[in-house]
Amino acid sequence: MRAIEIFPNTDNQANLQLHADGSLRHLLTLEGLDRSLLVDLLDDAERFVTPPGRAAARSHSLVGRTVANLFFEPSTRTRASFDLAAKRLGADVLNLDVNTSSRKKGESILDTIYTLQAMQVDILVVRDASAGVPAYIARHVNDYVSILNAGEADTSHPTQGLLDLLTIRQRKGRFKDLIVAIVGDIRHSRVARSAAQGLQTLGIGELRLISPPPLAPDPDAFPHASIIDNLDAGLRGADVVMALRIQRERIGSLDGIPGIDEYFANYGISTDRMKGAAPDAIIMHPGPMNRGIEIESALADSPASAITQQVANGVAVRMAVLERVCKAMELR
Ligand code: CP
Repeated sequence: MRAIEIFPNTDNQANLQLHADGSLRHLLTLEGLDRSLLVDLLDDAERFVTPPGRAAARSHSLVGRTVANLFFEPSTRTRASFDLAAKRLGADVLNLDVNTSSRKKGESILDTIYTLQAMQVDILVVRDASAGVPAYIARHVNDYVSILNAGEADTSHPTQGLLDLLTIRQRKGRFKDLIVAIVGDIRHSRVARSAAQGLQTLGIGELRLISPPPLAPDPDAFPHASIIDNLDAGLRGADVVMALRIQRERIGSLDGIPGIDEYFANYGISTDRMKGAAPDAIIMHPGPMNRGIEIESALADSPASAITQQVANGVAVRMAVLERVCKAMELR
């Protein structure tokens, strides 16, 4: 049984996540974070990127600290990379198994958090299907505890946004003038929202959101993007193409959404469709992928694909974020 809880108000998260001196206390959203902080986080993450086959980067910056992963929704990449990131920085790590936790006996999310806080957990990494949960927790924890949003409803996935920015910077060497096309279920995508916020702050040329009309976003959620329903028109000249899966877990009814074959024919990204993009265009995907639906399998494994690099960057970005909130904690 899950207790009835209301998570009010997702406003003012940008202020909530910074200390008075501007340093990072919580990471809840990329919205409202300034350019210099985003660039600093990308630079920090770059220090933790090591070539495949070499020993992973490590530091002792979180020795004595405890990080708890609380994933109230499934995850492979985000959860594993936060786990590895915290361990590679020397932290003690608790992966709470939500399915066998006292949440199943009706304990509220705040009582769960207060319990972990009493055990001297310093950083809580939270994924939840309800909008507002990370900010709600952030408003209630002690001054010396940090909350990191690991994926919140269709609202926000800030560390995914950062790893996408890092991957684009590594592959393209710049943001200015880039045409970025995000393709698929934009309406239900927290990945698209965080990517759009970060790309807007760093200043790209153009953001195009391509989807069938039932999966198109509310334009107010993406004020600086063009919303397009024709894939070839949207891909024309694009430097970066990001494919998204259909978020079936957030869709009440699949009415009006094309079936698999029709979807791939009209919105699946393939080597052939990519011919309309820039000659050196890259293809990205946050994962998990549905090969043959939103992306052709051969394209996902091709030299144009940055998907494995995104995963590798996920660990580096999470190390950078953990280190930064921990350093800010130590100055208090
Ligand atoms: N990209 C992403 O959030 O993947 P997971 O759901 O596997 O964490």
